[in-house]
Amino acid sequence: MNRADLAVLNCNQLLTCQGPIPKRKTALQDVGLLENGCIAAFKGEIVFVGDEEAFHRDVQMSDDGICIDGQGLTGLPGFVDPHTHLPFAGSREHEFNLRVKGYTYQQLAQQGLGIQTTVNATRQASDEELLSLCLSRLDSMLIHGTTTAEAKSGYGLNKKDELKQLRVIKKANAAHPIDIVSTFMGAHEVPKEYKDRKAEYMDLLTQEILPEVKNQNLAEFFDVFCEEEVYSIEETRELIHEAKKAGFKIKIHADEFTPLGGAQLAAEEGAISAEHLIAITEEGIEKMAQSPTAAILLPGVSFFLMEHKTAPARRMVEQGVIVALATDFNPGSSMTESMLFILQLAVFTLKMGIEEAINAATANASYALEKQEQVGSLEIGKKMDLVLWDVPTYPYLVYHLGVNPVKHVIKNGRIVVEDGRILTT
Ligand code: NIG
Ligand code: FE
Repeated sequence: MNRADLAVLNCNQLLTCQGPIPKRKTALQDVGLLENGCIAAFKGEIVFVGDEEAFHRDVQMSDDGICIDGQGLTGLPGFVDPHTHLPFAGSREHEFNLRVKGYTYQQLAQQGLGIQTTVNATRQASDEELLSLCLSRLDSMLIHGTTTAEAKSGYGLNKKDELKQLRVIKKANAAHPIDIVSTFMGAHEVPKEYKDRKAEYMDLLTQEILPEVKNQNLAEFFDVFCEEEVYSIEETRELIHEAKKAGFKIKIHADEFTPLGGAQLAAEEGAISAEHLIAITEEGIEKMAQSPTAAILLPGVSFFLMEHKTAPARRMVEQGVIVALATDFNPGSSMTESMLFILQLAVFTLKMGIEEAINAATANASYALEKQEQVGSLEIGKKMDLVLWDVPTYPYLVYHLGVNPVKHVIKNGRIVVEDGRILTT
């Protein structure tokens, strides 16, 4: 008999997304579907997944245990969003409107807008202001079914403000039910003060800021924007070598607009993930397919920038790349906290199957943060991070657009969203 303090009984469909994780090729089509599935947890950890008969045989509810009726609902692991730029201040709706009128993202950047607008606003924000912005965005993520998220710095671009962003991420992690994985991305851009002195900025990053981030234990990952006019392949390699020496795990914003070979570099350097990859080459796909490096695809970006070109997801899945999905939540190129919307875009624009997209937003997304032992699937021993959706079957999640069918969210065995409303924070 397993003791349980929380159980959900008879979900119309329960998708476990069970491992082995990571999932490649046709394994991505298996969502571990249980009809009339039941799940139970004790102290935040899953102790049972199975049918009702086995539940009554194997599970003993504690006296004050909570049983939720899952009839009519579909249960999935909480979404894992492995790429966000959460701690930013200000917004860019005016620049967005310029893009609607025909200016490109690159043209705005050349006029000193774009990322720089957000850097200015973020530098001006106090810790308290930034924290409060993060907490309300995390609420929005939670209410749309995300229970674990990554968050990057990269709008400070100096020691004081990069550390401020990372401190705020740490505080947000402590204050909010969502588990946050922190990434130092001082190499998101070259700050305008250093435009003609990139090498000096790289020294500042690696010699001064990086050791401080490490000493204060403010980030687990290091990320670089490897792109024309930002950091070249050689510069990216140099930066990640320093970051690895300092004990960081590596992510790379790679081959977003220009096929520089960031995907190959990520695979060669043992990066945990390469992200964006709209312009990945055939050679990049091959290298990634043979490596344990995950490809985080961000279909929100092509959509938001109104570009037809998308990452070649089908080719990547077929060749055996570990494909994950994320929002890239940021004010310039993907202003959404909703992983459900990303899942829908993955199906509509990247031509991923619904099952592939679900696995990419849960199991493989957890792998892309090295958190696959804790989250990303509903399996015994993992965290009870479960979202109950008010849909009769899982394809409905992609089929019914423009609504948020989240009914209940359970994080770490605790009900944090009930009937679509946040209970905590
Ligand atoms: O991940 N690619 C680089 N940076 C962000 C966009 C940042 C911004 O526009 O503020 C991204 O898409
Ligand atoms: Fe990004």
